Amino acid sequence: GEGAEILPRPAVVTVMGHVDHGKTSLLDALRQTSVAAKEAGGITQHLGAFVVVMPSGAAITFLDTPGHAAFSAMRARGAAVTDIVILVVAADDGVMPQTLEAMSHAKAANVPIVVAINKCDKPAADPERVKLQLASEGLLLEEMGGDVQVVQVSAIKKTGLDSLEDSLLLQAEMMDLKARIDGPAQAYVVEARLDRGRGPLATAIVKAGTLVSGQHVVVGSEWGRIRAIRDTVGKLTEKATPAMPVEIEGLKGLPMAGDDIIVVDSEERARMLSEGRKKK
Ligand code: GTP
Ligand code: NA
Ligand code: MG
Repeated sequence: GEGAEILPRPAVVTVMGHVDHGKTSLLDALRQTSVAAKEAGGITQHLGAFVVVMPSGAAITFLDTPGHAAFSAMRARGAAVTDIVILVVAADDGVMPQTLEAMSHAKAANVPIVVAINKCDKPAADPERVKLQLASEGLLLEEMGGDVQVVQVSAIKKTGLDSLEDSLLLQAEMMDLKARIDGPAQAYVVEARLDRGRGPLATAIVKAGTLVSGQHVVVGSEWGRIRAIRDTVGKLTEKATPAMPVEIEGLKGLPMAGDDIIVVDSEERARMLSEGRKKK
């Protein structure tokens, strides 16, 4: 036909780093800058993802630490939804084993890193030492002639957040992120949980195409028909477009983080594909 329309899409950013270095705190601080979160009036969100809309109108999708296992699962399928990793390193603690693990995950998945040196408010903070440690681990920092951006932040004092968002946007611009909007969705699960009333729920991110309510889907080895799609603030929506996290309802079983979502044309086909995958 006329050729599917390819349009710019938001960057999908995952926060990684050593235990207690402030990943969740940093996300909470960033979330507060989110227009959507403000509109939701501080209602506790179950969705492990949110979108920050910049004053310029540009958007960034943040994924709440899905854990290294989920990241690895997505990488193993060659289908990382993550465009950029924020590597959080506490300015007092410095580089620790899980910092290195996160670095190697990102490298293996070929995902660029933006470093956030966190807890810069602490008296024992030593960001220069952290930079040297990272450099000695082979990270090519911008200020040393490489291309990895480093930002100093405090999730608690909420400093450096604008710089971090700017760095992410700059990184995203260099990547020229685009996606096909029309046609069947190719999507991935980033998180799944069982809700007593609503059954299996999956947080999904569409990589290409559009996911539409009512469609029959195969999700990993599970199947179902999408009964409802909700955005990051819990609002019902008819469709999900690339890089916008959504929660989908209507699956027969609980999928796993990293599972792919494919759209099929009938319940019979969905059931058959799912059975085939379960045998493997
Ligand atoms: P895990 O998910 O358990 O790996 O931890 P995390 O990386 O998500 O760290 P979390 O946000 O839970 O923060 C760990 C501790 O560090 C908490 O007590 C936070 O209050 C504290 N913390 C986080 N960010 C900052 C910061 O910028 N400054 C200071 N002083 N404390 C911080
Ligand atoms: Na913690
Ligand atoms: Mg955490």
